[in-house]
Amino acid sequence: MQNFVFHNSTKIIFGKDQEQVVGQESVAYGKKLLLHYGGGSIKSSGLYDRVVSSLKEQGVEIFELGGVKPNPRVSLVRDGVALCKENDIDFILAVGGGSVIDSAKAIAAGCKYDGDVWDFYTGKAAVTDSLPLGVVLTIPAAGSESSAGTVITNEEGSYKRATGHISLRPRFAILNPVLSYTLPSYQTACGVTDMISHILERYFTNEKNVELTDRLSEATLRTIINNAHTVLEDPTNYDARAEIMWAGTIAHNDLLDTGRIGDWGSHDVEHEISGIYDIAHGAGLAIVFPAWMKYVYKHDINRFVQFANRVWDVEIDLNNLEKTALEGIKRTEQFFSSIGMPIRLEEVNINEEHFDEMAKKGTERGPLGNFVKLQEKDVRQIFNLAK
Ligand code: NZQ
Ligand code: ZN
Repeated sequence: MQNFVFHNSTKIIFGKDQEQVVGQESVAYGKKLLLHYGGGSIKSSGLYDRVVSSLKEQGVEIFELGGVKPNPRVSLVRDGVALCKENDIDFILAVGGGSVIDSAKAIAAGCKYDGDVWDFYTGKAAVTDSLPLGVVLTIPAAGSESSAGTVITNEEGSYKRATGHISLRPRFAILNPVLSYTLPSYQTACGVTDMISHILERYFTNEKNVELTDRLSEATLRTIINNAHTVLEDPTNYDARAEIMWAGTIAHNDLLDTGRIGDWGSHDVEHEISGIYDIAHGAGLAIVFPAWMKYVYKHDINRFVQFANRVWDVEIDLNNLEKTALEGIKRTEQFFSSIGMPIRLEEVNINEEHFDEMAKKGTERGPLGNFVKLQEKDVRQIFNLAK
């Protein structure tokens, strides 16, 4: 096990009706607040009104910026930075999912920087400080509610890039599973796929002797798998929604990382796809992850056998470990398909046209992943397996 420091400072406020404390939690950071949200789901669900009234009760002055799109755009982030700087905003409240939270984080970092916020995503500048932010989560998926990362798309050149800094970890995140009742099934399934992928990125490591984090990961994976069909068939099942929501945070709050180095190649490959084609991140992962697994499993067949056995209950065939490993990959793919996710690029109408370009762009800053280092030609092969 590697040395590590684990410091996740996000205060999690979990359970029914908990959005009612948002005013109290926010006012601790100042009286001028930017309320950031997406395309309107928070208005139709009534959440917007509840959040605004809680903020007003505390005498908070609210500035608003809605309209964040899935795969959030840097152009809106720039508008947000300008709005915050003009009005001396103290605090940013993101009400929504990963896209809104990531956009809020980008604005928070941009407020403490004189240059263009996109510099953080190209590596030209590093985030060193940001405005404090808080979250009311409406979709369990990206784990951004307690992560230090943000992923933004630049419409010019269709680049989707990530950056991170400890100051970007939300100060608090309100997780009310009831808020996820209104999710369309497709978004629920995308979220489930994303959180599973966050665990798998960490699970496939070259680090030996990481039994605790292996087993925590397996337990979290099994919990998500056990509850996924329930929330799809019975969207207002509180207990199942609660398991999924908490698992989404645990999957990406860095606990499962401790003592090991994760892979993250599949995420980088997926970002190339959603950067160009604007598909949902979870859907892209359902296509990329099984293809990546098929490409790399021989690198450490025992780890794939362990995964097949402990997560999918595949019986280990000691005479044919490859068969066991491949069965685990097949079950993963079948599961994604069973929850309504695409598992091949052709299902989302993506053909070979941009394969070369995506493989080149994806690796222009170096090889991707850690479990196996993926060069441009490897990424190209993964696209072939995902066709
Ligand atoms: O915009 P609205 O109207 O709110 O609709 C959203 C959006 O269309 C809708 N939605 C959210 N909550 C809802 C709801 N609809 C009905 N009822 C609700 N309760 O769902 C759609 C998708 O929302 P989005 O925020 O895009 O989803 P998600 O949370 O999956 O976020 C995806 C983004 O997160 C990034 C992804 O790359 C992608 O851009 N990620 C961020 C990470 C991080 N910062 O740590 C890590 C992840 O790996 C990921 O890359
Ligand atoms: Zn993800």
